[in-house]
Amino acid sequence: MFPVDMTRYVALDTDFIKANLGASRIGKEIIVYKSTSSTNDIAAEYAKGGEKNDGLVIFAEYQTAGRGRRGNKWQSGAGKSILCSILLYEPGIKPDALVLACAVAVAESIGRCGRTAAKIKWPNDVLLDDKKAAGILVEGMSAGKQNFFVIGIGINCHQKEEDFTGELARTATSIDIQSSTVCDRNRIAKRLLVNLDHYFAVGLKNPNEIVEKWRSISILLGKRITVEHSGRQFTGNCIGIEPAEGLIIQLQRGGVKIFHAASTTIVKS
Ligand code: BTN
Repeated sequence: MFPVDMTRYVALDTDFIKANLGASRIGKEIIVYKSTSSTNDIAAEYAKGGEKNDGLVIFAEYQTAGRGRRGNKWQSGAGKSILCSILLYEPGIKPDALVLACAVAVAESIGRCGRTAAKIKWPNDVLLDDKKAAGILVEGMSAGKQNFFVIGIGINCHQKEEDFTGELARTATSIDIQSSTVCDRNRIAKRLLVNLDHYFAVGLKNPNEIVEKWRSISILLGKRITVEHSGRQFTGNCIGIEPAEGLIIQLQRGGVKIFHAASTTIVKS
């Protein structure tokens, strides 16, 4: 059963998102589910249909089992977010650059809200006013001999302060909160697909351009941060970010250490 009253929000509209999209790869086919388990799972199902489904985009108004990085749940009230997954065969870009391209595309799609512009917190959280407004989960999978990627994106749009409880009250935000208006999810969704298409193409031709763009909107560079790695905490200044190697920190206790995204959590920034 569809659990929520969607009359409060303008629903995602496939025709609007598809119209004059101008994207060469992403969004040739777009499907909007009212409710599903996880859009990443649906996209992975479509991967069994073969390469003809490359660039397919699955949106959902609600997920019953949305997931985030590190096994976290990703929950959102119906119609309040942009929840989508993109299926990509052979992206042609290295996975690390793919993740960066997604982060840049999401940040640019959100753009400026109120006083603040969207920034990236390593590796691929998108923040507004230092709070998380969007997350990205890139999953490499295979069906038979075919490898593919599913890129899951969640963007908080219509949440109000009271929607974020517990730890999230301190760490999460939405576009509406930051802009003090009601945003147009269809326009943002359309912009997202155009930006993803653009940055995937850039990533193929000139990965360095993506890395530079990503660095220019990263909030950690030059900041004093604390990370946790292998059960230990490390504090120092973030002096660099390398897409493949990770976060480079000039440690307070001396020396320079590189921390890889898969095994590192930012505790304080
Ligand atoms: C993160 O932990 O920051 C990543 C969150 C990714 C959430 C999105 S919502 C759409 C897609 N489907 C999922 O189950 N997860 C991703």
